[in-house]
Amino acid sequence: MNEVKEMIKRPIPIDKEVSWDKTKTIMSKTDLYGTIEYANEVFVDVCGYEDYELMAQPHNIVRHPDMPKVIFKVLWENIQKGNQFHGIVKNLAKSGRYYWVITNFEYSRDENGNIVNYIARRKAVPEEVITKHIEPLYKKLLQIEQASGVDASEKYLIGFLEEEGLSYVELVTKLMIENQKTEELQQIQHDAVVKGTEEEEKKGFFSRFFGL
Ligand SMILES: Cc1cc2nc3c(=O)[nH]c(=O)nc-3n(C[C@H](O)[C@H](O)[C@H](O)COP(=O)(O)O)c2cc1C
Repeated sequence: MNEVKEMIKRPIPIDKEVSWDKTKTIMSKTDLYGTIEYANEVFVDVCGYEDYELMAQPHNIVRHPDMPKVIFKVLWENIQKGNQFHGIVKNLAKSGRYYWVITNFEYSRDENGNIVNYIARRKAVPEEVITKHIEPLYKKLLQIEQASGVDASEKYLIGFLEEEGLSYVELVTKLMIENQKTEELQQIQHDAVVKGTEEEEKKGFFSRFFGL
């Protein structure tokens, strides 16, 4: 029987972020073509589609128009080879709001080692990684794509990565690690200041107490 699933109408993007619990993991499983076979509850909650709306739909159901095509090209080139891959993606919820995620891919294979399913796990991305690094790069890629096509944006991306001396995955990894280090440093500095203030307070107490 030839059952045609009714196409979901694309939401109109609005420049507002989905508010969601960023400690959670969004998970989905697809076939080799990116058709959704499973979505966890977090995915359903964050994207705003019911699971019956997601099942058997292409994963581009959450594709955001701000995403340059070349990033998906890189994504598919990597996952088809079964590489370890982390991509940063802006997604579009049913409400038109956006949510940024970093994705990790896992592969389920048959007895001959051929990939049969993709499993994607996504976490929220630190704000600074997006605003300082990823958004400016993606905006540039999208502009180039709109003016001159994907080949041109791919050339730009290759040039950008060559200058950094990194692959896309290495860039993403570097940004995430740098961000974590900065946050840890800020925490250490914060703790030192708090401790310093406590020390000052104690000193102040004793100097007052002893009339020094
Ligand atoms: C497991 C898996 C998860 C994916 N997750 C997303 C996602 O969260 N957002 C997205 O826009 N595309 C995702 N994609 C890529 C889409 O399949 C698709 O290539 C992309 O949305 C671009 O749309 P297009 O191929 O129609 O241009 C995923 C693909 C796979 C295999």
